[in-house]
Amino acid sequence: MAETAKIILENKEYELPVITGSEGEKAIDISDLRAKTGHITLDLGYKNTGATTSAITFLDGEEGILRHRGYSIEDLAEKSNFLEVSYLLLNGELPTAAQFTEFENNIKEHTLVNEGIEAMFKAFPTGSHPMGQLISMISSLSLYYPKSLNPHREEGAHMRTVIRLMAKMPTICAMIYKKRNGHPIVFPKNRLDYVSNFLNMTFGQVTFDDYEVDPVIVDAMNKLLILHADHEQNCSASTVRMVGSSQANLYSSIAAGIAALWGPLHGGANQEVLEMLEQIKNDGGDVQKWVNKAKDKNDNFRLMGFGHRVYKNFDPRARIIKKACDDVLNKLGVHDPVLDIAKELEETALTDPYFVERKLYPNVDFYSGIIYRAMGFPTDFFTVLFALGRMPGWISQWQEMRREKQPIGRPRQIYVGHTPRAFVDMKDR
Ligand code: CMC
Repeated sequence: MAETAKIILENKEYELPVITGSEGEKAIDISDLRAKTGHITLDLGYKNTGATTSAITFLDGEEGILRHRGYSIEDLAEKSNFLEVSYLLLNGELPTAAQFTEFENNIKEHTLVNEGIEAMFKAFPTGSHPMGQLISMISSLSLYYPKSLNPHREEGAHMRTVIRLMAKMPTICAMIYKKRNGHPIVFPKNRLDYVSNFLNMTFGQVTFDDYEVDPVIVDAMNKLLILHADHEQNCSASTVRMVGSSQANLYSSIAAGIAALWGPLHGGANQEVLEMLEQIKNDGGDVQKWVNKAKDKNDNFRLMGFGHRVYKNFDPRARIIKKACDDVLNKLGVHDPVLDIAKELEETALTDPYFVERKLYPNVDFYSGIIYRAMGFPTDFFTVLFALGRMPGWISQWQEMRREKQPIGRPRQIYVGHTPRAFVDMKDR
């Protein structure tokens, strides 16, 4: 017999269906709760609310498991590359060699961006944050491709938008980097693979024809992008789904997701972590003092890169990144004193009852910034790199939501404001 949940409200009993996911996760289906009972549920921050069913990413926070389309993040990070993982997320299966080549070639056809996009940079104040620029740039693509505004386009036309987004994202990110430094942009080179092309557009110079992309950096970048590629219903993915549910176009939905990612509690944490580690170093390196600050409820300071809504054991991405961090810095011959501080901070926090009781562990953002810095990226660019990696995940979440014809996202509320009262004329207030 199908499992059900019983709820008693005002002495009346109601039965609600229980649904079970393919990994045994259970949910009480409250779709008709309000119709049946007149009640809604209240769950601030959606801590207990499943916003959707999804076949893209499985995450078990208690066991520290992360899988995309059934494949473990450890295997993908070790054996795959970012473009292959992107294909997997977008299409549900790993590509054959022919499918991969076709996907890669399609992307290469669309790597250039309209010259008008470059002109937009002139409008930004000097030193403006790269994430603010990225939101504007991605949103502006909807203006260059107005057909994307039609929510009822056929699948082939939609897929061209997907390919355009994947293709133009590295070009736009690299342009932001170049414009920040006041340098001319480097055009895409389609003989290069996806990640090498991005690195070439970022670190290559128009004055050098023979810039060679370091294979150590290409490998590390592939790994980092894979580790950021999707993470089920996080704040930015939920934003992309929410915006897309109104049938807003894909470019605008993704721009909204980038805006959500920017916040320091989400992707913006990678910038905050490095700034925090620098601050600790410049303050004399007394790690215990900063751990105490993070524990002090009268102090706003939080240990950035620590804690996660879902992971309550360890973040598998953080484990892979910590190892990659050692490898990359060794291979590049870089000794960064903030890595020593990060390790000491992790050790101190992990043995502190405050962090142990609350199950707070390093997350994906704790070590990633140290690798980015060793590669030569400036701190305020780190969240752009997170967005570059998250692009296929956001698109996959958007596609799934639209293909399943999910309804517009529109939560309810419990009103706690004034009850009706008479309007008072201004002269009498
Ligand atoms: N430092 C100190 N205390 C913390 C921290 C932290 N980093 N994270 C959580 N806590 C405490 C929090 O004060 C609360 O304590 P109490 O029970 O005494 O009130 C308890 O732990 C639970 O925290 P919460 O804020 O209710 O947990 P949440 O699930 O709402 O928030 C989080 C999750 C990631 C926003 C939070 O852990 C945090 O702010 N971490 C720092 C920012 C960060 O690293 N964000 C990146 C997240 S991973 C990348 C991504 O996918 O976005």
